[in-house]
Amino acid sequence: MKGFSVEWLALREPYDLAARNALVRDAVANAFLGQAAISVVDLACGAGATLRALGPHLPPRQSWRLVDNSLSLLARAFTPGHLPHVTVTTTPIDLARDLELALDGPLDLVTTSALLDLVSTEWLDRLVVEVAARRLPFYAALTYDGRSVAAPPARLDVELLAGFNLHQRTDKGFGPALGPSAAVRAAERFEHFGYALVQGRSDWVFGTDDRAIQDALFAGWAEVGPLTTGLSADDIAQWLAQRRAYLAAGRSSLRVGHVDIFARPIGSR
Ligand SMILES: C[S@@+](CC[C@H](N)C(=O)[O-])C[C@H]1O[C@@H](n2cnc3c(N)ncnc32)[C@H](O)[C@@H]1O
Repeated sequence: MKGFSVEWLALREPYDLAARNALVRDAVANAFLGQAAISVVDLACGAGATLRALGPHLPPRQSWRLVDNSLSLLARAFTPGHLPHVTVTTTPIDLARDLELALDGPLDLVTTSALLDLVSTEWLDRLVVEVAARRLPFYAALTYDGRSVAAPPARLDVELLAGFNLHQRTDKGFGPALGPSAAVRAAERFEHFGYALVQGRSDWVFGTDDRAIQDALFAGWAEVGPLTTGLSADDIAQWLAQRRAYLAAGRSSLRVGHVDIFARPIGSR
């Protein structure tokens, strides 16, 4: 299952929804309390998960600009039927090239999810400069932070996870990616520009019944293993077989670390 496929985003969405940090989400909601209307841009929206997760917590009249470079994902981003005063426009933009275009016009809030770990230091710094220049609040959910703990443990878990985290730093279209260090960097840069930060963990916690998503993640570790570890194909295949045996026996659980942040210009209401 590929990183931005419709199937992968659909598989992860309910887990993302459960994992989103409620304190951070409430801080976003509180920043707009009493406001009748809000205008939001969601960067790298995928199929619209942030609209569905955050929309119910925002003022009733909402205008969303959903931005992504995938036409097939944008085509699937939709307005939830139970929110009658929500208007949505979908805008295809290559954010690596035309970030500034996405931030054009009147906006109250910039959001994103599962994006920051994919981008480079340079691109993240550019994003923070552009957002801070407009004094806009910024909500970024579900940034992977490098922590993953599988139970029961298997031989080579540590090596395969290290390889996966190394692969997280490879270029995903924005230059060499920040991977697990992205959330810390984003918080630092926003503080530098006079923002107040609310942060909290938003870990995936998969129990023994959450087999499909664990299988997809372990398969991902195995796929990049030959590129990022010194392990042989046999070692990697045996490791994956062991993890799958735990899954099939209903014994496998997995925690994957994420961080949510809400950055708000100091001095704003
Ligand atoms: C991990 S997905 C997250 C999607 C969505 N925010 C969510 O939480 O389900 C990363 C998203 O970044 C988008 N993306 C990757 N590179 C991009 C680029 N250069 N410009 C715009 N979007 C991009 C992908 O198409 C994908 O939708």
